[in-house]
Amino acid sequence: MEITRKSAAEIAKMRSAGRIVAEVLALVEETLAPGISTAEIDRLAERHIRSAGGVPSFLGYLGGRRYDASHPHAYKATTCISIDHEIVHGIPGSRDVKRGAVVSVDVGAIYDGWNGDGARTFICGGREAGTPEALKLVDTTRLALMAGIAASQPGNRVGDIGAAVEAIGREAGLGIVRGYGGHGIGQLMHEDPSVLNFETDYPDARVRLEPGICLAIEPMFMTGGEKTRTLKDGWTVVTADRSLAAHFEHTIVVTADGPEILTRV
Ligand code: MF3
Ligand code: CO
Repeated sequence: MEITRKSAAEIAKMRSAGRIVAEVLALVEETLAPGISTAEIDRLAERHIRSAGGVPSFLGYLGGRRYDASHPHAYKATTCISIDHEIVHGIPGSRDVKRGAVVSVDVGAIYDGWNGDGARTFICGGREAGTPEALKLVDTTRLALMAGIAASQPGNRVGDIGAAVEAIGREAGLGIVRGYGGHGIGQLMHEDPSVLNFETDYPDARVRLEPGICLAIEPMFMTGGEKTRTLKDGWTVVTADRSLAAHFEHTIVVTADGPEILTRV
């Protein structure tokens, strides 16, 4: 395990990358409407990242910290768009988004060699289009992200983040995705430590948070059981019982004064 602390100059670059990510998510929020295709959303995201001087970080990603755009299994889009029972890593394509759909959009950008990673879940057509169940899921997952960020204080441990996230999910009676979680971030999108969304005894949980440590915190909750599976496309992760899922993510840096969110406009 290698935990790096970023310098002020490096954090400034990550702030730029994070701002681009946040701008994309704001743009998606404005544009998402019944009938838009997920490929259109993806094009919008790529166009914005490039016009802001960034590079999409998901394009060409192979998993396991490897990139090879020409590899047949490489990820071929700028965003992951996961709808309803899809949790993460949904691949944009020709399908249209329907009113009331629970739409999770995950986006990563590299600016001057440094990464930003963020995700938000929207209801297509706005909150009035959402079922009470969907609204509760989305609001609780967002709240869990903020609780995880609030726990990212210098002197705390990585495990405190997962404990804070889990407490919010449990309290609301939601399922917590266990197979996927947050991560360190910097020159690579995925660095040590791994930031799981629940309390568990793994080595990374004991890592002490210090100023300069940058993390992507990303709770994923579902309304049903915690079992998940991956579709035949090799990427899309879904709830096994087809219950709804939501996903929120921010990139943060731990400072002496507490966490600073880097993925904001
Ligand atoms: N952004 C995801 C994460 O938060 C990773 C996306 S995987 C990719 O860790 F293949 F789509 F790039
Ligand atoms: Co991430």
